[in-house]
Amino acid sequence: MTAEPILQPALIYQTERPQDAPAVEALIDRAFGPGRYTKSSERVREFATFRPDLSFCAWHDGRLIGVVRQYLVEVSGRPVIFLGPLAVEEDERKHGAGADLVEHGCEAARAAGYGAVLLVGDEAYFRRTGFAAAPAASIRMPGPVDQRRLLLRALTPGGDQGLAGPVLPPAK
Ligand SMILES: CC(C)(COP(=O)(O)OP(=O)(O)OC[C@H]1O[C@@H](n2cnc3c(N)ncnc32)[C@H](O)[C@@H]1OP(=O)(O)O)[C@@H](O)C(=O)NCCC(=O)NCCS
Repeated sequence: MTAEPILQPALIYQTERPQDAPAVEALIDRAFGPGRYTKSSERVREFATFRPDLSFCAWHDGRLIGVVRQYLVEVSGRPVIFLGPLAVEEDERKHGAGADLVEHGCEAARAAGYGAVLLVGDEAYFRRTGFAAAPAASIRMPGPVDQRRLLLRALTPGGDQGLAGPVLPPAK
């Protein structure tokens, strides 16, 4: 007897649209729980400019299964992209969607002309997608944060160099 092939629909990655916001918010709430709004990243997002054109949704057979949002901030007088939240539905994890979302976000930021992406997260996870704590050592978040969790990735040669001081709202 010949086994039937199992057809798994591929993930579709798409920039976030206004109508996606309720599902995106619900997914982020499920992934981070009630601590979501206490994070110092949230203080940054309060003054940063949301960039839906650099934020991505992962869809599986019509269901939203992952999201990465990105914002514009300024550090050392240079525009920098602030990545997060990143979240994948629990039953869809460990298949690469998280890394793919980060990659899509970084590629879109690079194509838009930005030199670096900043985030707060576990280096053990984000180093796989090119982030490191060392170049972010002199950057200051608005709230308390474990400095080892502040990570940078260069999008252009040297884009992660020379960034120091506070994370500020973007220049108008
Ligand atoms: C972190 C998260 C987005 C990863 O999504 P994902 O689709 O499973 O990611 P990937 O498939 O690209 O990578 C999975 C791998 O990363 C590992 N991993 C996940 N979180 C990790 C962490 N905090 N530290 C180290 N490794 C981690 C997994 O164990 C897995 O390892 P394996 O490849 O050896 O099996 C998902 O676990 C999630 O939504 N977590 C809750 C929200 C969160 O913590 N977001 C990140 C902080 S901004």
